[in-house]
Amino acid sequence: MDELSWQEVVAAISQASTLAELKDWRTRWVGKHGRITELMKGLSDLPPEERRRRGQELNQAREAILAALTQREQVLTDRAEERALEAERWDLTLPGREPDTGMLHPLTRVRRRIEDVLLRLGFSLAYGPQVESEWYNFEALNIPPNHPAREMQDSFFVDIPGLVLRTHTSPVQIRAMEQHQGRLPVKIIAPGLTYRRDDDATHVPMFQQVEGLVVDHGISVADLMGTLTVMVQELLGGSVRTRFRSSYFPFTEPSLEMDVTCAVCQGQGCRVCKETGWVEILGSGLVHPTVLRNGGYDPDQVSGFAFGMGIERIAMRLYGLDDLRLLYQNDLRFLRGFRHQGGLR
Ligand code: PHE
Repeated sequence: MDELSWQEVVAAISQASTLAELKDWRTRWVGKHGRITELMKGLSDLPPEERRRRGQELNQAREAILAALTQREQVLTDRAEERALEAERWDLTLPGREPDTGMLHPLTRVRRRIEDVLLRLGFSLAYGPQVESEWYNFEALNIPPNHPAREMQDSFFVDIPGLVLRTHTSPVQIRAMEQHQGRLPVKIIAPGLTYRRDDDATHVPMFQQVEGLVVDHGISVADLMGTLTVMVQELLGGSVRTRFRSSYFPFTEPSLEMDVTCAVCQGQGCRVCKETGWVEILGSGLVHPTVLRNGGYDPDQVSGFAFGMGIERIAMRLYGLDDLRLLYQNDLRFLRGFRHQGGLR
């Protein structure tokens, strides 16, 4: 039976390592034109005795090869299946993939946190335009044209005369008083964007402030200090220490700046706080009589306090940032770092 005996073929088949090899063996030996098939075709030429013997022999060989093929096929298919299962095995202990959901900007969260604290202290929200008249931004706040106080806040003027990008949220003081039409108390906060021609690590040309204004009978510096101290402790934690320094703003008298202990050195003195242990957090004061009058209130009947606080500064402190500009560069690698910041909605 040619160069290989059928036993050798059966042995080779049982060693085959791929299904392709098996197919090859099948075609070559038991296929339509396979070796054994061809030999069987030649049987009719043999004398009857020989034909019987040879026929039995060939049948036996054919059966043996077919059986070997079937058996080996089974083994190889089983193995392939096992390998596939092994490769596709799911590791249920792997951490899940986080869906790429959006989140609020850290500055938005800080602004909302400040609003939360002040709303709980009884303030309500008030708003004013970002393109503001010079009257509301300056004159009504007791900052006359050409007054040197305007130099404190380098302004962006717009093409339409008499309008500026508001340099602070203080114009909302006047707008809120006008809206209250003499009713008491006035107790509002006005968060929003403000603009000044500044640009360095701690100043950006567009920034956010929260203004606060309280007008009522008998409002004093004690109300101012008490309210602001509670607010700052709620925001920055009860262990923060505070102090007030006298200052100057045209729209408050007296004027006070509030400092908090430096977060970097806890008051020991370092480069951030210029070795003083304190950092300024807001400007405030009792509302100037002229400002009350411009808002439609009689300074002989009522008094008030006001404050203005930079939101970015609070964010820098809460998040331990040393460069304010990071907050405005929209770099997702930076912003994603705030994803799991707890406590801020
Ligand atoms: N408007 C002042 C500023 O931007 C802050 C301030 C507000 C001070 C209210 C006193 C009262 O610097």
